[in-house]
Amino acid sequence: MQAQPTAAAPASTHAATPTPTQANKPTKRTAKDYIFGKLIGEGCYSTVFLAKDIHTGKEYAIKVCEKRQIIREKKREYIKREKDALNMLFNVPHGFVKLYCTFQDDERLYFVLSYAKNGELLPYINKVGSFELNVAKFYAAELLLALENMHAKGIIHRDLKPENILLDENMHLQIADFGTTKILDPETIRSITVKTEDEENPATENDRSRKISFVGTAQYVSPELLHNRVDTRASDLWAFGCIIYQMISGLPPFRGSNEFLTFQKILKMDYEFPEGFPADAKDLVEKLLVLDYSKRIGANDVGDTYDSIRNHPFFDGINWDTVCTQSPPTIS
Ligand code: ADE
Repeated sequence: MQAQPTAAAPASTHAATPTPTQANKPTKRTAKDYIFGKLIGEGCYSTVFLAKDIHTGKEYAIKVCEKRQIIREKKREYIKREKDALNMLFNVPHGFVKLYCTFQDDERLYFVLSYAKNGELLPYINKVGSFELNVAKFYAAELLLALENMHAKGIIHRDLKPENILLDENMHLQIADFGTTKILDPETIRSITVKTEDEENPATENDRSRKISFVGTAQYVSPELLHNRVDTRASDLWAFGCIIYQMISGLPPFRGSNEFLTFQKILKMDYEFPEGFPADAKDLVEKLLVLDYSKRIGANDVGDTYDSIRNHPFFDGINWDTVCTQSPPTIS
């Protein structure tokens, strides 16, 4: 997929503000403004390529979606949510991939995203087996700050997992993949939950496959998302607990030999801590992995910071003002 140079305008800095040409007319980018390189990610309905802007030489991650597939699989809403969420997060300085612009041709939609050079968090966990406590604490702190920023804007991710957490060139984390996002309307941002009959997948009690089609990834899905009854920020806090557990122990807490058995384990809270799991981390994970979402640590915090989580002894020693700008500890 090699694009040929054209005399197009320099890269715009934001999706909402196309760059003026010499004639002062805004131009829209096209695939020809980029040289497409290696494949760096694949999702259910998209493929991500490393791409170079032919005008600036800057590298981007371009997410490409086939229109026919989007329409066939009824994923239009996912595309819209992803674009809306990324636009809302564009000015947050840390913690998220940035959406620089979007464009389309007859067959495809394109999202031009910041390139997180160091890729996904998951292979780092798998490579070292489990993170040293200071490393787990650092990435948990960065993730919490990102969740605070996202939730303050009413954005619930709903598919947080180590594959959706990317690492930039300085090894700071960036959350990606907002296709399963729920954006709460401003009036409901402050309340803990919104009761919904999910608009895309209205499910009945017996309709297990439809319920499940709504959720992201089995191991990190919260009980309330499995029941398909509520949209709550606390679902991301559940996934946060699973990710802390995984960074420290090497594997996510709920693991069945298939998705259904994993869901059963989640609903029964069937998980164990391996021997030697540090006590403060265990206490925090136990306070996040609570079946009743309204009783999870942080679920009742008011304001834009999760103070009850920040103040948990697991985070002793974390400087919340400098986490995102300090040098991350080396993963080991
Ligand atoms: N894979 C998916 N999105 C990516 C991004 N923005 N940077 C690097 N790898 C990715």
